[in-house]
Amino acid sequence: MHATITLLPGDGIGPEVVAEGAKVLQAVAAGWGHDFTLREALMGGCAIDAVDNSLPDDTVELCRSADAVLLGAVGGPKWDDPQAKDRPERGLLALRKALTLFANIRPVSVHPAVQGASPLRAELLDGVDLVVVRELTGGIYFGAKTRETVDGEEQASDLCTYTTGEIERIVRVACELARGRRGKLTSVDKANVLETSRLWRSVTSRLVAAEYPDIQLEHVLVDAAAMHLLRRPADFDVLVTENMFGDILSDEASMLAGSMGLLPSASLGTTGQGARQGLYEPIHGSAPDIAGRGIANPLATILSVALLLRYSLGLLAEANAVESAVNAVLAAETVTPDLAPPGGRSCSTAEVGDAVVAALLQAAPAQRHH
Ligand code: IPM
Ligand code: MG
Repeated sequence: MHATITLLPGDGIGPEVVAEGAKVLQAVAAGWGHDFTLREALMGGCAIDAVDNSLPDDTVELCRSADAVLLGAVGGPKWDDPQAKDRPERGLLALRKALTLFANIRPVSVHPAVQGASPLRAELLDGVDLVVVRELTGGIYFGAKTRETVDGEEQASDLCTYTTGEIERIVRVACELARGRRGKLTSVDKANVLETSRLWRSVTSRLVAAEYPDIQLEHVLVDAAAMHLLRRPADFDVLVTENMFGDILSDEASMLAGSMGLLPSASLGTTGQGARQGLYEPIHGSAPDIAGRGIANPLATILSVALLLRYSLGLLAEANAVESAVNAVLAAETVTPDLAPPGGRSCSTAEVGDAVVAALLQAAPAQRHH
């Protein structure tokens, strides 16, 4: 097939890990006889530096017209001034909104070879296989913000809003995912305090009863969910929650896997017929402290490429092959320093990427010649 993929390398380690993701995409194209056009665009701090805008219009256009977008990471101390009129993160939020990428999917599983990297005891990690489905274009992230002086004192506010329609569409995504898995859905809210959460809870109950009676639904308050993620992580299958709770819980859940450097994410838009447009990115940040040293773990980005192949291009065999190649590389302990045992051997970003490509090409079907 032919597909166009826009790369947004971004800031910090973003360009280093996206380079490995691009290698893997080209290896899939070569090994399975596809034709992928990769094109790069500016977003984040690098775009502020180059054109004074964290999300230039032509970047939005290159993303809109692509089949999928692969993003590295944005942000860094250079752009952290709270008075700045633009920030790298604004570019990312505006892009999610512009492409209506309301469903953020963050799978977490534990690879036996790196179980020791998690701060949790190994017996708690047995069987951990969960997905956080985070609402991505609503809630407090996008509500009206104010900053004013009232009675001589500074005051700020962020409004949190959700509509029935926004809740229904994200819960449907979560239910569809749960159907292909263990059929369990945990909806996380703060219904004992927040009105948006009470709406969330009633809409979710009603929708699941009406459209997904086969799904086993539980409601858990966000504080309890944070605790249970550490106490009994293997019990969870699919979690669905609003934007900010999902941001927080997905970073917490990432520690189950041992390293943020292993976790991919997909941000999807409106359900289309079959394949749909999406933005794929590692869940880690731009890690300015290790940028430029060639030691960033590229696996979260490479696993994001697997999600891209599966969800946006519908290439299921290729997606599975990329995931198997990553497993093989982890099993062989070809890992960057974040996953290496203390004092143990570690590899560079590019060496890990090359190892994935080699494992992938071994698994590729006989190459077609034109
Ligand atoms: C994430 C990040 C972003 C978010 C930041 C960079 C705006 O933390 O994707 O989880 O809060 O959504
Ligand atoms: Mg986050």
